Amino acid sequence: MMISSSIKVCKINELPDGQSKCLRVNDKEVAVFNVKGKYYAIDNTCIHAGAPLNDGHIDEEKCQVICSWHGWGYDLATGKCVTHPRQDVFAGSYPVKILGDEIFIEIK
Ligand code: FES
Repeated sequence: MMISSSIKVCKINELPDGQSKCLRVNDKEVAVFNVKGKYYAIDNTCIHAGAPLNDGHIDEEKCQVICSWHGWGYDLATGKCVTHPRQDVFAGSYPVKILGDEIFIEIK
């Protein structure tokens, strides 16, 4: 059975609107984004060639991050790669919750 655990990211005031933060969880990196006061967490490693997605451009209108190396886009809510011709290419995505003034992600 997989047990999920809550990992603290930071305090809310440490991740302003339009910015991202990367943290290492076990053997991977997760990027957490603030888009207009909503928080999203996806794998930080671009599926294409491994660029760190927290270095990408955040498109707040589309709620996407655009990889800084070759421009692949990811939906922050689902992790879906929106530029890949296949419809089933996703970066891992993780639930985010707020407790008090702190941000947490749920990792299985
Ligand atoms: S490494 Fe991200 S688009 Fe190429």
